[in-house]
Amino acid sequence: MNTNSSFILLINLISLIFISDLFAQEFTFAAMSDSRGKDRGSNEIVLSALVTHLVANQKEVKFLMFMGDMVDGSDDYPDTTLAELIYWKKIMSPVYNNSNMVWPYIYPVIGNHEARTPNDEDNFRSMFNNVPINGPDDEKGLTYSFDYMNVHFVCVDTDRWYYGDPDDPSDDRRDWHYVKHLDWLENDLQKANERNVRYTFVFGHDVPFPIGGHLHDGFPNLGRRFNPPVDSLKQWHIDQRDKFWQILVDNKVTAYICGHEHIYGRQLVDGVYQIVAGGAGAPLYEFNPTFNEHPDSKKPYEEMSYNDAVPYYKELNYNYGPGKNGQRSEDFFGLRAFHYAIFNVKEDRIEIKIYGAFPKEKISYEMNGEIELIDKFEIKD
Ligand SMILES: [Fe+2]
Repeated sequence: MNTNSSFILLINLISLIFISDLFAQEFTFAAMSDSRGKDRGSNEIVLSALVTHLVANQKEVKFLMFMGDMVDGSDDYPDTTLAELIYWKKIMSPVYNNSNMVWPYIYPVIGNHEARTPNDEDNFRSMFNNVPINGPDDEKGLTYSFDYMNVHFVCVDTDRWYYGDPDDPSDDRRDWHYVKHLDWLENDLQKANERNVRYTFVFGHDVPFPIGGHLHDGFPNLGRRFNPPVDSLKQWHIDQRDKFWQILVDNKVTAYICGHEHIYGRQLVDGVYQIVAGGAGAPLYEFNPTFNEHPDSKKPYEEMSYNDAVPYYKELNYNYGPGKNGQRSEDFFGLRAFHYAIFNVKEDRIEIKIYGAFPKEKISYEMNGEIELIDKFEIKD
């Protein structure tokens, strides 16, 4: 072999390594949330249909992110919640037995329905003990992060059980609707950026910019029948939401993906996508009410009328009034459907496809028709 041939061989080898490196960064993951229902805690028929469709049709999927409220749970009996989670895992067995996917198959996020008694968090940890243990001390196994190829994934706990004074049993209460450890999150995202990860996704159960059904709580947590002015606790929740979102913006997070609201919706807020994918079987909600539909009346599954919602819209800087969408961003797009989401990570973009089925008329927890592609969009830098 002469020098020229050796040089060409070397160049080819380098190109091959470079190209295979590029391809190595491309992969697919799935996300879904909110499957609670009446079949031992889950909506077994809808969840099974979605999971069966996913396993049969999305063979390139490497793992599934599940953003909480898998089951109904119980306010009084932690063993009931635990038994429901065991049954939920049985329903999810097509995913756990899928040889196309990689261990641990499902990365879970805890939801408010799984954090209803002092024992629930430890039960949740025991049910999903294959996640990275790298979160804040009091949220280990619930808040965590990992890299897959050149992409960073963060799961944050948004709904905890609060242990005020361990010696005072009356000092136990729910501690919902916010991300507690913002310093941990900021540090984790900064380190990921220092590693030059290509994209970062953050997953949580609760919703920073509610789109339907939880306008009264979610991260802003204004409460039912809100009337201004905000008190100091409500202002604290709004500030905590703003700080959380600013951390995502500052660290160039691609999307925050959540559930809590049983519906599908996407919108860009200050350069970061909020994607609500809460349609895995829990009763479907309606979107935030709009002026044009019915200013004073409510749809069957709607939380409040348009006029009831106006004080919330004003406080949260939503688009409201004639012709407005009743959402935080004008680019909002959503569908009232059962669904799962597919994220196809490419070097220069993320392709997102939503597969779902619409509900039967007047029944918010049964599918009508086949599961099909219902939305498709791309995220580019
Ligand atoms: Fe929830």
